[in-house]
Parts: sequence; C-alpha cells; structure tokens
Amino acid sequence: MKIAIINGPNLNLLGTREKDIYGNMPFEDFLDQLSVKYPTIEFSHYQSNIEGELINALQLVGFEYDGIILNPAGYTHTSVAIGDAIAAIKTPVIEVHISNVHAREDFRKLSHVSGKSVGSIFGLGLKGYELAVEWFLSK
Ligand code: DQA
Repeated sequence: MKIAIINGPNLNLLGTREKDIYGNMPFEDFLDQLSVKYPTIEFSHYQSNIEGELINALQLVGFEYDGIILNPAGYTHTSVAIGDAIAAIKTPVIEVHISNVHAREDFRKLSHVSGKSVGSIFGLGLKGYELAVEWFLSK
C-alpha cells in the first residue's frame, strides 16, 4: 500500500512553530515513527509553502497511490484550486489538521477541502495522521 502525506505552508516548522498549538515534534521525527509502526506501507512525504506545488504534488500521486493524507494548512481556508485538484484526482484524500480548526478563529472554520475529501480529522495532534493511515488500512 502506498500512502502520500502532503503538508502545506509552515508545517516544515513543526517542532519550533507555536508549540502550544502544534506540539514540539518535527514532522520528520513523527514520520520515522510512523514508518516503523507500519513497515508494510510505502510512505511518501511532500511539504511545500507554495499553493501550485501542492496541486502538482496531488496530481503526481493522485492516480497511482492508494491514499493521500493532506494538511493544506492555511490554504485550507482560501484555496478553491486545491479543492478542485482533490476533485480531479482518483486517489481518496483524508484532510488532517493538527489543531481544532473549529475552536480557533472564525476564518479557520471554512475549508475548501473538506467537501472534496472522504473525511476530515482535526484537533487530535499528529495522531490524526496515524488515524488516517488506519482508515486507509481498513479499506
Ligand atoms: C492547520 C490549521 C490551519 O488553520 C493553519 O493555518 C495551519 C495548520 C493545522 O494543522 O492545525 O497552518 O492546518
């Protein structure tokens, strides 16, 4: 099984960025743990701060991989184009947010991604990525 994890802007700063909201673990460390826990899954990880690059990444894996775990970060709330990309590809997408976007500012309550995804997980920290993996495994 091949699962792509695609992270949007500023998620390269996990571990140093607003630790009270996003925790203190760099994503690479978390990914190492995930790869050990699920040795049979082939993970790919891509992070970009640029909207179009995230769309390119979705298109690249979106006809080949079994699942995509996507955290579009700030683009969640603004990007019609990322929502359109999810609708255009074949691979199912699970939207993940580390923080509870519904318990924060109002602008974070709008997602252009949720309606195009098979499901969304928010507020459960990095564990949300693992729960998304479990869902793909159960399919
Ligand atoms: C986030 C939530 C977004 O609102 C925010 O812009 C992020 C991270 C999260 O994982 O909680 O950068 O997607």
